[in-house]
Amino acid sequence: MEEGSAYHLPVLLQEVITNLQIHPDGVYVDATFGGGGHSRAILEQLNENGRLIVFDQDEDAYANRIDDPRVTFVQQNFRHMQRFLKLYKSTPVDGILADLGVSSWQFDTAERGFSTRFDGDLDMRMDKRATQTAAALLQSSTEKQLQLIFQEYGEVTNARTLAKIIVQERKARPMRTISEFKSVIQPIVKGNPQKYLAQVFQALRIAVNDELGALKDILTQSAEVLKPGGKLAIITFHSLEDRLVKNFMKMGQFEVQDDAFSFETPPKLFRLVTKKPVTASPEELKRNTRSRSAKLRVAEKL
Ligand SMILES: C[S@@+](CC[C@H](N)C(=O)[O-])C[C@H]1O[C@@H](n2cnc3c(N)ncnc32)[C@H](O)[C@@H]1O
Repeated sequence: MEEGSAYHLPVLLQEVITNLQIHPDGVYVDATFGGGGHSRAILEQLNENGRLIVFDQDEDAYANRIDDPRVTFVQQNFRHMQRFLKLYKSTPVDGILADLGVSSWQFDTAERGFSTRFDGDLDMRMDKRATQTAAALLQSSTEKQLQLIFQEYGEVTNARTLAKIIVQERKARPMRTISEFKSVIQPIVKGNPQKYLAQVFQALRIAVNDELGALKDILTQSAEVLKPGGKLAIITFHSLEDRLVKNFMKMGQFEVQDDAFSFETPPKLFRLVTKKPVTASPEELKRNTRSRSAKLRVAEKL
């Protein structure tokens, strides 16, 4: 078995390597190290002058770090990428990869609280040093905030009812664990319970880790730290992320503006390397169910 593959099987591995068009003596960033599958494949393409700066905010991923003089591990949120690249005198860079979301390890470890399949603390922090867990977020958010989280991040159809029952029940009933939370919301679960819970958990996870905020930050910073000709490769797992990546790579902004109201369009920052998102081959789909929703987009800095 490949090192790290029990922790996480890298998705779209060959597609990432091909599209990054790696220079053997270049400087590369893997913003989401996880089990290091992508990092190891990038390293294989680098000679002794190449460098790889990797980020992961999770101490469990840090435990997988690669002992190699060409690699620097930064156990921080990738939203601080630019700052740390400057600190390590590593700008400008030749390529950046971000393989978003949680790793299989995080998802399959009951006490991390990411999966509806287990019981455990309702935690969901990728960075265990962060103070706000999913349980804390459920306790401290207003009803309106909760509604928006479920609506925007989970596309939960009865987000308002869900937010209402949480706020109604939270003083009297604990919601510290997955099973406690599930039993509180059980009366209002709509449609297929598994699908419903998956949407609710996705929404909470995105909110706890401010995943879309971090993604916007790394996209913006990529445009500043990449060399002209440098490649940006992002793998997303749901449409909220993919839309931000697509718009940013195409137009240098996150939202499509209504032309009638826009006074100036921002300058183009990237040229698309992949015209359409790259998805998993039938072989990979068979090997790794997690690759089902993966979409890779690659762009070149102008
Ligand atoms: C899908 S996994 C990456 C797997 C990796 N490519 C591999 O081959 O094993 C995502 C990893 O990125 C980390 N991560 C997600 N968002 C992050 C962020 N904003 N800052 C730092 N690390 C993040 C998670 O902790 C997780 O370990």
